[in-house]
Amino acid sequence: MTMSTLSPAEQQSLVEAARRARENAYAPYSNFLVGAAVLDEHGRIHAGCNVENAAYPEGLCAEAGALSAMVLNGGRRARAIAVAGAGAAWITPCGGCRQKLREFCDEDTPIFTANEHGLGPTYTLKQLLPASFGPEHLSKP
Ligand code: THU
Repeated sequence: MTMSTLSPAEQQSLVEAARRARENAYAPYSNFLVGAAVLDEHGRIHAGCNVENAAYPEGLCAEAGALSAMVLNGGRRARAIAVAGAGAAWITPCGGCRQKLREFCDEDTPIFTANEHGLGPTYTLKQLLPASFGPEHLSKP
């Protein structure tokens, strides 16, 4: 799948789902609320938010939650991802989440950044995780 296969309406729905998910984020330690949404190969949107806890490193990123929801519901490929924060600093997935996304994305899968007002830069997975390790290295399709 390439960026051009995503309609403007699909992109808008995806970004709005990420923004809505952000409103439910549980981040009392960082106060940094993040929402994410994944559009799967069936055209369905799965959302997630960051969920922190008192043992700080054990928190979950929004992207991990969205991917988990996709897999739970039978989705296996991500056609596009949206990550929503607030304010001027566009949020891109952390290193660990880039690898998690790698499992379910193609190299040209778009990752949209957004805040409450609009869209920020769009990246492909390959831009965020070049020369990456993936399932094919383990002879998986
Ligand atoms: N976080 C995400 O959920 N996704 C990102 O893409 C970047 C960071 C979360 C993790 C933590 O709960 C908080 O943001 C601050 O790092």
